[in-house]
Amino acid sequence: MRRFFGLAVSLAAAAGLLVVPAATPPDTPLDNGLALTPQLGWNDWNTFGCTVTDSLIRETADALASSGMAAAGYEYVTIDDCWSEPARNADGDLVPDPDKFPQGMRALADYVHGKGLKLGIYSSAGVTTCAGYPASLDHERRDADLWASWGIDYLKYDNCGNTEGRPGRERYAAMRDALTATGRPILFALCNWGVDDVHSWGPATGNSWRTTVDITDSWASVLAILDAQPDWASRARPGGWNDPDMLEVGNNLTDTEARAHFSLWALLNAPLIAGNDLRTMTDATRSILTNAEVIAVDQDWGGSQGTKLGDLGDQEIWRKPMSDGSVAVVLLNRADADATVSTTTQALGLGSASGYAVRDLWTHTTGSSDGTISATVPAHGATMVIVSATPGIASDR
Ligand code: GLA
Repeated sequence: MRRFFGLAVSLAAAAGLLVVPAATPPDTPLDNGLALTPQLGWNDWNTFGCTVTDSLIRETADALASSGMAAAGYEYVTIDDCWSEPARNADGDLVPDPDKFPQGMRALADYVHGKGLKLGIYSSAGVTTCAGYPASLDHERRDADLWASWGIDYLKYDNCGNTEGRPGRERYAAMRDALTATGRPILFALCNWGVDDVHSWGPATGNSWRTTVDITDSWASVLAILDAQPDWASRARPGGWNDPDMLEVGNNLTDTEARAHFSLWALLNAPLIAGNDLRTMTDATRSILTNAEVIAVDQDWGGSQGTKLGDLGDQEIWRKPMSDGSVAVVLLNRADADATVSTTTQALGLGSASGYAVRDLWTHTTGSSDGTISATVPAHGATMVIVSATPGIASDR
């Protein structure tokens, strides 16, 4: 009957009698119970590149626990590229580089788990990783089983190496299915840089998907990545997040730039993956990464991720609905000089009320407004506030 219906539809369409929708409906979102809020953690790549070692991962786990970051929600410690031997062993398994990981991965996972944290690892949906190490194309089940046997909790899965002309949708689905088959909850973070139509199949495949190119530790890079994010906003949902790439907080940005970067990534419901050396970070960096009020915006699902509301050239307004009916706002100043950035509660979508509370998430103070939201924002900086109709005063929102 279904086949007959399909045939009838095809014939009708061929005769020009029917308009057949061009796009297939979105696949069912991945439902592995993970990343119901965006994942928080740390990854070695932005600072350490190929020099990752067992001691770096252990010391970072220690620093996560002692710095207050674990208490703020950072959970996943992820080993990026360059962790393995240059070739698989005779059985076909990946082997940790014994110079970098002399105690093996199981012992390292036990250590990280002992701190109440989780361990992540990296591979690619190609023949090799970006740095040329063996990767997982056509070895998905073997590699996923090995990682599960070590106690791995997170996979960052890149798009490098020879991919043999096979579409990303298939290559990434093969690893999704291999991870599921292990029976171990392993968060699946896709890293294919927004290419190959990942906007259409990412939500059915992973818990997050990179939207854009690699971030670097410059203000220009933060802005270039930011500019591409509005196109992705409709894809995010609990369990599957747009990933504008890892944080550069504490690397080469000024503290003002780092606060803006962190504010914007939180407004985007992005995975917050620190990429700095946690063992030597300054107090200013630590206080940015552990700002509980900003992290709470990242972790709140009010029905959509934040997006750009207004563009006044070098000054921009970004907004995100919060689940309690308030609105999180980032007033961004991209320019090299301080500027006043303003919007209104009406533009933000708040209903009319006789007054509004304006909570500044960086100064941790609450002011009031009769409808105008305005701040002097430093060069390369941002002000981040939550605006809500004043309690007790009716809002018609
Ligand atoms: C790609 C990824 C980066 C990092 C490197 C490792 O460039 O996008 O995040 O994992 O590979 O080689």
